[in-house]
Amino acid sequence: MKVLVAVGSKYGATREIAQTVAEVLRDFGFDAVWHDAKDVESVESFDAAIIGSAVYGGFWRRDASSLVHDHAEEFQKIPVWLFSSGPVGLPPRPTEPAGEGDSLVDVINAYGHIMFSGYLNPDRLNFGERAIVRGLKASVGDYREWGQVKNWAREIAHQLTKISQPKSEMPREAASE
Ligand SMILES: Cc1cc2nc3c(=O)[nH]c(=O)nc-3n(C[C@H](O)[C@H](O)[C@H](O)COP(=O)(O)O)c2cc1C
Repeated sequence: MKVLVAVGSKYGATREIAQTVAEVLRDFGFDAVWHDAKDVESVESFDAAIIGSAVYGGFWRRDASSLVHDHAEEFQKIPVWLFSSGPVGLPPRPTEPAGEGDSLVDVINAYGHIMFSGYLNPDRLNFGERAIVRGLKASVGDYREWGQVKNWAREIAHQLTKISQPKSEMPREAASE
C-alpha cells in the first residue's frame, strides 16, 4: 500500500514530524514517502495520505492547504488523516482551537485531524515574527512530543492494516462486520 505523507513547513519543525510519521509507517511495512506539499504534483498513485502543516496566524501553510483543495476529489476516495503543528510553551499557546486543519477535514472527508505542539527557534524568526510571538506570549523552544506523534502514526498504521487486509485473510468475526 502506497502512502503519501505531505507537509507544509516554513522552518522545518513540521517537516520532521512528517518524516517521523513516514518512518513509523515504513516500519509497519507500508510504502510511505514524504514530500513537501509544494512538490506534490499528482496524488493518483497513492492508496492513503497523511497531510500536515505548520500553523501561522491560525492558517495552514499555503502549499499544504492548496494541495488539499486542488486534489479534493482524489483525496475523498482514499483514507486521509490531517495534522497541524503549532502551539508552543507549557501550557501550549496559542490556546484557540485547531484553526484551518479542522475545517479541511470536511473538504475531503478526512478520517481526522490532530494538533501537535510545535517548535519555535528564535534564531530563525524574522523581526516581524518575533513581535508576533511576543504578542502571543508564546515561549520559544522545541515542544514537539515525539511519543504522541509516533503513537498517532501507529494508530493510523493499524487502521490501514485493517483496510488493506483482504476479507478472506481476516478473522471470521472481523470479516463479517
Ligand atoms: C509568526 C508566527 C505565527 C504563529 N502562529 C501560530 C498560530 O496561529 N497557531 C499556532 O498554533 N502556532 C503558531 N505559530 C507556531 C508555529 O506554528 C510552530 O512553531 C510550528 O511548529 C512551526 O513549524 P515549521 O518549523 O514547520 O514552520 C506561529 C509561529 C510564528 C513564528
